[in-house]
Amino acid sequence: MTTKSIGVALVGCGTVGGAAAKIIVNDAREIAARTGVELQLLHIVDRSYAHADELGITEAARTSDLAVVCADPKVDVVLELVGGLTVAKSIIEQALRAGKHVVTANKALLAHHGAELLALAAENGVCIGFEASCGGGIPIIRALYDGLAANRIDAIYGIVNGTCNYILTEMIHHGADYPTALAQAQKAGLAEADPSLDVSGVDSAHKIAIMASLAFGVDVEFDSIPVAGIDSLDLKDVLYASRLGYAVKLLAIADRRENGVMLHVRPAFIAKEHPLAWVSGPFNAVSVYGSTTGHTMYYGRGAGGRPTGSAVVADIVSLGLGAIPAVYRGSPALRGATKKAQVIPVSELESRYYLRIMVADSPGALADITGIFGRYGISIASVHQDEPADSDNGGSAAPVPVVVVLHTAREQDVLAARDKINALESTAEVSSVIAIVDEHEEDLS
Ligand code: HSE
Repeated sequence: MTTKSIGVALVGCGTVGGAAAKIIVNDAREIAARTGVELQLLHIVDRSYAHADELGITEAARTSDLAVVCADPKVDVVLELVGGLTVAKSIIEQALRAGKHVVTANKALLAHHGAELLALAAENGVCIGFEASCGGGIPIIRALYDGLAANRIDAIYGIVNGTCNYILTEMIHHGADYPTALAQAQKAGLAEADPSLDVSGVDSAHKIAIMASLAFGVDVEFDSIPVAGIDSLDLKDVLYASRLGYAVKLLAIADRRENGVMLHVRPAFIAKEHPLAWVSGPFNAVSVYGSTTGHTMYYGRGAGGRPTGSAVVADIVSLGLGAIPAVYRGSPALRGATKKAQVIPVSELESRYYLRIMVADSPGALADITGIFGRYGISIASVHQDEPADSDNGGSAAPVPVVVVLHTAREQDVLAARDKINALESTAEVSSVIAIVDEHEEDLS
């Protein structure tokens, strides 16, 4: 077999960079035998080489000067594994302008500046590989631009943050409250010391912005995505979900509609039989609904050095094979040449809903609440109230939790009804409103 050699410069030898470097160094021979692409790690650019030393990576030249790397004709690909929005952006721009392909795992940067960077790559006749930006080791980006090429993609439903999924799994299966589950995730080495990007849902929003842009061939503005995280989730709702036959998952959703796309990230109830419900612990899964395949689902480890390093190395191999450049030539989305997405406000979402309401245990209190839903044309599917421990015939008037499950309603109507309930003098306060997300219907027409 003919072997093509591809020279690599790594910028940022942290968790993912170190793992990618180790795969390149240790597995180059085996990868070459399998793919015909011989990977050569030529340079490491970093401020400290302690991690590279720890990993025993001594093959590559070390420099703190990116210009040296950009001037080396043997370098074909620059790996940007620094993260963040500022330094990383200028590294990528410098590499692209020098005619180097770039491979990155930087979802935040791509979500905010993807179209601009892809356009710059196209101008310079090179490509950006970003398989590692979404879903760690899951080849979801490839699935969207290549494997599902025959499809009009109708919807994407993703569990794309391993930290959140681990925390939710601890809450669901072990009854841990949110702070305890978060502490466990940190102890397990999953959650960052500052986990705010993960638990606020922002990391998931970065990923759905990237996947939706690619799948729908539009440029999604990151700020147009409404985001709710798991950081204010109450264990009580997780436990009610279980009693009612649901699991709580942090979902990143992109849905194509006739007049645009609807995008949102939120904790949601999904039926225990829903294919995404059994995705547990640090795993990720992405469900994609295509016009010819129907539902396909991609599952695996969405975080961590080796899974994410796997995606980085796959992109380098693909660049070596010429596969990514060939796809880029045909795809406006990959050249950053698409129109801004028409984003449909999530207030127009039609969904079933769960509400937990603290209601005074007194005559007529529930009637006030059901009356409000009625006035908004919202139909109640079920009401659940446990008998209070000190229950007597008249009720004590102390608030008790009442769980209401609604039939399909518009989000803006549900929220308006919530505000009216909160304004009731008699009684009640809505503690939580959570969407119940049913499985997306396949449309194979
Ligand atoms: N911190 C992310 C997660 C992985 O926990 O899934 C990188 O996006």
